[in-house]
Amino acid sequence: MLTLVTGTTGQVGRRFVPRLLAQRRPGEEVRVLVRDASRGEPFAELGAQVVVGDLRDSEALGKAVAGVDAVVNVAASFRGVPDEEAWAVNRDAAVELGRAAQAAGVRRFVQVSTGLVYGVGRGRLLTEDDETRPGGAMWGAYPESKAEAERELLALEGLDVRVARLPFVYGEGDPHLAQSMMWARNWAATQRLQMGHHADVAQGLLRILHAPGIAGRIYNIADDAPVTAVELHQLNGVEVPAELYTRTDPDPWLVITSTDRIRRELGYRPLYPSVYAAREAGAL
Ligand SMILES: NC(=O)c1ccc[n+]([C@@H]2O[C@H](COP(=O)([O-])OP(=O)(O)OC[C@H]3O[C@@H](n4cnc5c(N)ncnc54)[C@H](OP(=O)(O)O)[C@@H]3O)[C@@H](O)[C@H]2O)c1
Repeated sequence: MLTLVTGTTGQVGRRFVPRLLAQRRPGEEVRVLVRDASRGEPFAELGAQVVVGDLRDSEALGKAVAGVDAVVNVAASFRGVPDEEAWAVNRDAAVELGRAAQAAGVRRFVQVSTGLVYGVGRGRLLTEDDETRPGGAMWGAYPESKAEAERELLALEGLDVRVARLPFVYGEGDPHLAQSMMWARNWAATQRLQMGHHADVAQGLLRILHAPGIAGRIYNIADDAPVTAVELHQLNGVEVPAELYTRTDPDPWLVITSTDRIRRELGYRPLYPSVYAAREAGAL
């Protein structure tokens, strides 16, 4: 079994691949797609095959999927990029990768997506059966491009597609938790962010990749304890500005997702049920 992983130089991918490699059974191999050959070296040292190319280049996609049994598409472009690039990478290239995989006889395709596809809250935990309503100014084309990629990939005939919707991912030296202050300082005190540690995102992705009989299924991944804007300040050692307490949370259920499905169907249990458990374990 050969598994192709994209986006391995990013925050999620670089922590997922070593875990995928560590859990490999005899005969299983991993291939990574990177844009810059030198950034593939650490993966080659861990025993992965390396293909160099851009996801938007169909020739690179052909090389990347040749002989592959499963794909985990982690790659995305969303950190401060123009909308055109978000569409080109997150939807168009993801769907082209799905088509290339389909043509190459790939058996399984895990699409890494985001809880932002739900858009507005529904006054309760969001479940995978809720329709997606991506939008809003904060994230530009990112949520919509990911939602369309999900939809188009799931519609591909004959390809076993599974979708993983991630929360705000943190841990293991990822600067993301500190970066959350960018928004948290403008939030209401009680406004919440749903979290997931890298170890648990990897756990969820591995379960989704390896489980039989779940073609077409979507799974939320998250921990058990969304944190408030006040907690984000405290976790980052920043004094809580008084204005936070004067604001009202515009949508208390925004991107707060249920993990009931992945628990029940795939046996997922977060290693770090809260950011505090991760802090206690020295895993921030
Ligand atoms: N981090 C989170 O909190 C979070 C939350 C929800 C969902 N997600 C999802 O998780 C996935 C990974 O996120 P991340 O935080 O790891 O993102 P990231 O740190 O920005 O990494 C993005 C990865 O995608 C690669 N990539 C971007 N454009 C590419 C292209 N044209 N061709 C080939 N590779 C390309 C990047 O390669 P380079 O290094 O060459 O740029 C990098 O490896 C994404 O699908 C994202 O939507 C993440």
